[in-house]
Amino acid sequence: MKKLLYFFFALFATVGVSACSPSNDPINEPSAENPEEPVTPDEPNNPDSNPAKGKTLIVYYSYTNNVHRIVSDLRTQIEADVIRIEPAEKGLDYAANNYAIGSAQIQAIRNHPGNASSYPAIDPVEVQFDEYDTIIVAAPLWWSNMAAPLQTFLFKHGAEMAGKRIGLIVSSASSGISAVESDAIRLIPDGKFLSPSLWIRSSQTSKCHSMTSEWLKSIGY
Ligand SMILES: Cc1cc2nc3c(=O)[nH]c(=O)nc-3n(C[C@H](O)[C@H](O)[C@H](O)COP(=O)(O)O)c2cc1C
Repeated sequence: MKKLLYFFFALFATVGVSACSPSNDPINEPSAENPEEPVTPDEPNNPDSNPAKGKTLIVYYSYTNNVHRIVSDLRTQIEADVIRIEPAEKGLDYAANNYAIGSAQIQAIRNHPGNASSYPAIDPVEVQFDEYDTIIVAAPLWWSNMAAPLQTFLFKHGAEMAGKRIGLIVSSASSGISAVESDAIRLIPDGKFLSPSLWIRSSQTSKCHSMTSEWLKSIGY
């Protein structure tokens, strides 16, 4: 079973090729075997939320650049400052030995989510959170959870995001994103989360433009 999972990671992690191209192509629909629907409703889900008024910050991490491509597309649609989180330890191969490093990092966080030492070190980041009223967090999924380096950033700064409108975008090969949503809520306990989150599977990366644009409408951006 694990081998099958690794096969899918490897397959999908390499699928997204260039930045998302604007496209009306139909996006892969979930099959009967995969009941987890992409979260892209047609109707606005936040009728009571105010549209964005202040500045927007996009914060993301990307190992194999699928999230980077999604964020690059998003930047063609909205004005936003962007921060890319980088692990302090360079050159780690998270896919080696059946994703052993990523697996160990996620397990350490699961074991002791309240300890700063559970989170992998990242390069220092300076953010003036006062400037922003909307923060879009764009995350790869690792072992069902939010990728560890992005969790580090939110562990350090999530409290400073209190009262901000928080949008969540998640890229995974195939796993559903509910545990990533739970991570975000745990790490930004007083964020005003915009619903729905956007799930883009790695196979959909190159066609993400229409998904991001529909999502922006659905959260009332
Ligand atoms: C350490 C690690 C663990 C992963 N675990 C999962 C998983 O449990 N389920 C899944 O569907 N994809 C998993 N993936 C695949 C990524 O979620 C997917 O390829 C995503 O698009 C990567 O985004 P990125 O290219 O921005 O890093 C994993 C990838 C890595 C590196």
